[in-house]
Amino acid sequence: MSGAGQEPQGLRKGPLRYEGKAKRVYETDRPDVHWVVYKDDATAFNARKRGTIAGKGIVNEAISAHLMRIVQERGGVSTHYLSTPAPGEQWVTAVDIVPVEVIVRHRAAGSFAARYGVAAGRPLEPTVIEWCLKSDELGDPPMNDATAVALGFASDARLAELRDAAHAVDAAVAGRFDEVGLELVDFKVEFGTDASGTLLLADEISPDTCRLWDRASGEPLDKDRFRQDLGGVEEAYREVHRRLLEGASP
Ligand SMILES: Nc1ncnc2c1ncn2[C@@H]1O[C@H](COP(=O)(O)OP(=O)(O)OP(=O)(O)O)[C@@H](O)[C@H]1O
Ligand SMILES: [Mg+2]
Repeated sequence: MSGAGQEPQGLRKGPLRYEGKAKRVYETDRPDVHWVVYKDDATAFNARKRGTIAGKGIVNEAISAHLMRIVQERGGVSTHYLSTPAPGEQWVTAVDIVPVEVIVRHRAAGSFAARYGVAAGRPLEPTVIEWCLKSDELGDPPMNDATAVALGFASDARLAELRDAAHAVDAAVAGRFDEVGLELVDFKVEFGTDASGTLLLADEISPDTCRLWDRASGEPLDKDRFRQDLGGVEEAYREVHRRLLEGASP
């Protein structure tokens, strides 16, 4: 189970289960809980570009924890987030990750703009929901519903559930960013199923996984600053943190 009031207490960190590009996931003495440590490492373009963003782990953990709470409270979508035992670290409900990355797009940008040969920034009406296969080796290829079902990555019912959840997550998170003068251009989320089979929002929501444009200046305040060598990367992540968590006005 997840959610406020059911926080685990006094867990011990167990063996490393998985080291990803942005986080390390450890087992704990409870099989239903994982211990996640956020890293400062940054990768882009399917890990062909690598670097570090000083302080990113702590900042992204705090942003993600905040947004997971918003998703639960305002969006009514259950999440894996349980609590933050130390800066940059999270206790989360262990899930089996659905191998479908869910991308929500309000404007064309990045690989989507390149794929269709349209200008970055072009508004998308309706909001686009895309599936990509979660596979670094294959470069996370996009797929449609039939492909996901035919290849056994998700059932039709699961895809419908993912689409509804993605819209609810989007409404909650885009609304929260809007309050602090940030436009949510696009984002990627991952879902998983807990031991009882319940679908939970998992992984993270942070400037690593969202495109965020400052409403006043149009400047990106996200990983595009790292991808495109725009400078001010650490400052951008800290600014998103400041606006969401320090009650700072934009
Ligand atoms: N609650 C959870 N239970 C189990 N695994 C999780 C949970 N939340 C996130 N993960 C997984 O933890 C791994 C580490 O996260 P990280 O963001 O570092 O991965 P990544 O380098 O982006 O790699 P990947 O391509 O596997 O997503 C990811 O595979 C992610 O799907
Ligand atoms: Mg990741």
